[in-house]
Amino acid sequence: MDRFQEQISRRLTFAIISHPDAGKTTITEKLLLFGGAIHVAGAVKSGKTSRQTTSDFMQMEKERGISISTSVMGFEYGDRFINLLDTPGHADFSEDTYRGLSAVDSALIVIDSVKGVEERTRRLCEVSRMRKTPIATFINKLDREGQDPMGLLDQVERELDIHVRPMTWPLGQGRAFKGVYNLVERALYLFQAGEDRRPADVVPITDLDDPMLEASVGASAARKLREDVELITGIYPPFDREDYLSGAATPVFFGSALNNFGVRELLDNLVAFAPSPTAKASAGREISPYEEKLTGFVFKIHANLNPAHRDRIAFLRICSGRFERNRMYLHVRTGKTFRSANPTAFMAQNREIIDEAWAGDIIGLHDTGTFAIGDTVTEGEQVSYRGIPSFAPQIFRVIRNTDPLREKQYNKGLSQLAEEGVVQVLTKLSNVNTRVIGVVGQLQLEVFQSRLEYEYGASCSYDPIDYSIARWFTSGDAKALKAFIDEHHRRILLDSRGAHILMFESEWNMERIIGKNPAITFHSTSETLATALRPDAGE
Ligand code: G4P
Repeated sequence: MDRFQEQISRRLTFAIISHPDAGKTTITEKLLLFGGAIHVAGAVKSGKTSRQTTSDFMQMEKERGISISTSVMGFEYGDRFINLLDTPGHADFSEDTYRGLSAVDSALIVIDSVKGVEERTRRLCEVSRMRKTPIATFINKLDREGQDPMGLLDQVERELDIHVRPMTWPLGQGRAFKGVYNLVERALYLFQAGEDRRPADVVPITDLDDPMLEASVGASAARKLREDVELITGIYPPFDREDYLSGAATPVFFGSALNNFGVRELLDNLVAFAPSPTAKASAGREISPYEEKLTGFVFKIHANLNPAHRDRIAFLRICSGRFERNRMYLHVRTGKTFRSANPTAFMAQNREIIDEAWAGDIIGLHDTGTFAIGDTVTEGEQVSYRGIPSFAPQIFRVIRNTDPLREKQYNKGLSQLAEEGVVQVLTKLSNVNTRVIGVVGQLQLEVFQSRLEYEYGASCSYDPIDYSIARWFTSGDAKALKAFIDEHHRRILLDSRGAHILMFESEWNMERIIGKNPAITFHSTSETLATALRPDAGE
C-alpha cells in the first residue's frame, strides 16, 4: 500500500450520539486520554465552561451551560488516526447534530443502563439508519442499579430497529457489579472502580466450566453467567462485521465510563472493526475516498469565533483525495477558486494549522462569508454531495425587525445566520414580505435572537403562527401540483431555494390532507426532497 492509500485507510471518523447525561462527555474524555490527546481527566468537561479554549464560545452556551456546537477532535490511537465528532447534547440542537452525522463514517451510541433507550437516541439513530451508518453501542453506568441487560438488548433491537450482537456480558449490576465477560475474546474482565486496571483483573476463561470462574466471582455469579451466556449465544448469532458495516446489526458493549471500565476495550474494538472512510454519494456518482482528486463538503459553519472580527470557520469533511495548504481549489457553488493559507485541524482542545489532510479528515477553513452549509469543494469537477439534510421545521414564528434604523444589519444577520443553519428563513407564498423563521427546537429561536443582537446589532421580535408541522412537497403531475398549490396557497411557505413547504396545524390535519392528495409526495427532510427533484427521479 502506498502512503496515499495508507493514510486514508487508517482514518476512522465517527460521532458519539446519546441522550444528554448518558455519559458522552465522560467517554469522550476517556478516549482522548487513551489516545494521549489530553493528559488530565476533566479537560473535556472544563472545556464546557472555559470559553476561549474550545469552540464553545457563544454567550448562549455560557448562560445555558450546554454545548450547542458540534466540535471535532483528532487523535492518534494505535495505527489509526481518529476524527471524533462531538455532537451537541441538547435536544433543541438536533439539526446541527443531524448534519454532523453526514460527516462521519460510523457512530457510537451511548445508553444509560438505568434509563434505557431515550427519545433523543431514538431520533438520532433514525437518521443514522436512514443513511445506513454502522453503529456500535455502549451501555453505560453498570455500576448503578440499572435495567435488566437482556431487557436492554431487547429495547435496543426493538426501539432502534437494529439487530444486536452482544460482545460483552455483565456480571451483576450496581453494587453487585463484578465485571464483564468478553464473549469474543472469552476473557473475564473483573471490575475495579478507578482509572487503571491491573493485569490481574483480566482472567482468561476460554471454557466457562473452568473452576477459575468460581474462584474469581463466587459460585452464584458463576452459575448466573453460565446460564446467561448459554441463553444469549442461543438467541444472538455471533458478531459479523459485514452486518455491522451495512448498518443491519450493532455490536453491544457494557461498562462504566466513569470508572473507566470497558472503555478501552470498546476503543480497541472500534479501531479493529470500524470502517475507514467510505464512498459518498454525490448527485452524479459515488465517489471513492481513494480517488486522487480532492472533494469535500461543508457540513457546518461556526461564525464569529471572535466577535471583534467577522471570522467564520467552515468545517470541511474531506471525502476523497488529499487536501493541501495553499493549493487552489474550486468552490463549486460560486464557480470561484480559492486557496487556504491556514487550514486547521482540530486536535482535542487546540486548533493547529496543517499542511495536508486526507479523505476522512475534518478540517476548518477560514471563511469570510463565502461558504454555506452543503457547499462542495473540488479540484475542478462539478460535484454536488447529497445527504446534508435540512429537516422540516417544527416551530414557526413570523419574524419582525424591531429597529427600522438597522434594517441593513437585520437583513445581513438574517441571511448569514440562515446560511450557517441556525434557523431556516422562509417566506409566505401569499405574501413575500412576510418572513417566517422555522426551527426544530425552541432554543434555536433564542440563540438566533441573541446572536442577531450580539453579532449584528439588530433586534427582532417573533409573532406566533398557528402551524406546528411542515412538509416539503413535490409531484410528478404538474397539473395536480398547480391545483394543490392554488388550493392551499395560504399555508404554503417557500424555502431559500424556492421549494414549497406546506404547513399543518396538527398530525390529524396532515394525515387528512395527505390522504386526500395521492398525486402529491410529501418529504420530511430535504434529503428525500432532493432525491425527488433530481432529473433522473422520473418526475
Ligand atoms: P453527557 O455528556 O452524555 O451529557 O454525559 P456526561 O458524560 O456529562 O455524564 C453525565 C453524568 O453521568 C455525570 O455526572 C457523569 O459523571 C455520570 N456518569 C458517566 N458515566 C458514568 C458511569 O459509568 N457511572 C455513573 N454512576 N455515573 C456516570 P454529573 O453528576 O451530572 O456530572 P459531574 O458532576 O460528575 O461532572
